[in-house]
Amino acid sequence: MSAPAHPDSTDLDRLHAAVKREKEDLAPESQPAPLWATFLLMLIAIIAGSQLGPMTGGWSFDVSNPFALAGGGDPRPGGAGAGAAMDPFQMAMKKGASGYSVCGGCHQGNGGGLPGQFPPLAGSEYVTGGTERLIRIVQHGLTGPITVKGQGFNTPGGMQAFGGAMSSQDLANVLTFVRNSWGNEGTMITKEMVQKVRDEEKRTTQWTDAGLKPFADKNVPGEIPAGPGATAAAAAPPAAK
Ligand code: HEC
Repeated sequence: MSAPAHPDSTDLDRLHAAVKREKEDLAPESQPAPLWATFLLMLIAIIAGSQLGPMTGGWSFDVSNPFALAGGGDPRPGGAGAGAAMDPFQMAMKKGASGYSVCGGCHQGNGGGLPGQFPPLAGSEYVTGGTERLIRIVQHGLTGPITVKGQGFNTPGGMQAFGGAMSSQDLANVLTFVRNSWGNEGTMITKEMVQKVRDEEKRTTQWTDAGLKPFADKNVPGEIPAGPGATAAAAAPPAAK
């Protein structure tokens, strides 16, 4: 018999043996959970989820959205307030507010603009005035000297055209939003109105203020008054009873 490799090794063997002895065997009647049970539980969860989803509004957060509740009534799908939640003016304002992020970098979140650089949209006659000029400005861009609320602007490069980058619906929402924010009050601009200007005017250069003079007071036909009551009656189908 050779000497142990290490003086402690016999001691280690003894300890290991003790540990092994402690380990209990699986009782003969107990089995690990079968794999099919796991899959069955997953299947139940999927079916339950797909049933619950539609019943709770498709997991959307509309139920806690202040615009949806503004119309009053029952905000649940199919409830009395469901028609109000679909009010086109409220929808346009909500979507326009998020679409406005592309404008806000220059015209600022409060619509106040930046003196000497970006003209204000709040209180601007270009925003609340004729809808044709407003749509043309955003559709094709604007450059050269312009006076807004008594302040002169002539920012190099002017404002780019947004017609290529935004759908008529997105533009309509943003324009409805700017016409009805920060104290502005104006009619709604619909996607049909934006589309009409798009189809009629195919220019590839920016407008100048002088070039827009003929459109200053013109309105594209098809506008609808802003406001939940008016638009709900004008554009929304009557709520199903
Ligand atoms: C890159 C900066 C920039 C962005 C982004 C921008 N604008 Fe402008 N905007 C300007 C400038 C500069 C002018 C003035 C152009 C000129 O001097 O002729 C202007 C002018 C206007 C005007 C006419 C003047 C006024 O203040 O009423 C309107 C309306 C307008 N912009 C709306 C918008 C809307 C809506 C958006 C978003 C879709 C937008 N702008 C995005 C820079 C910008």
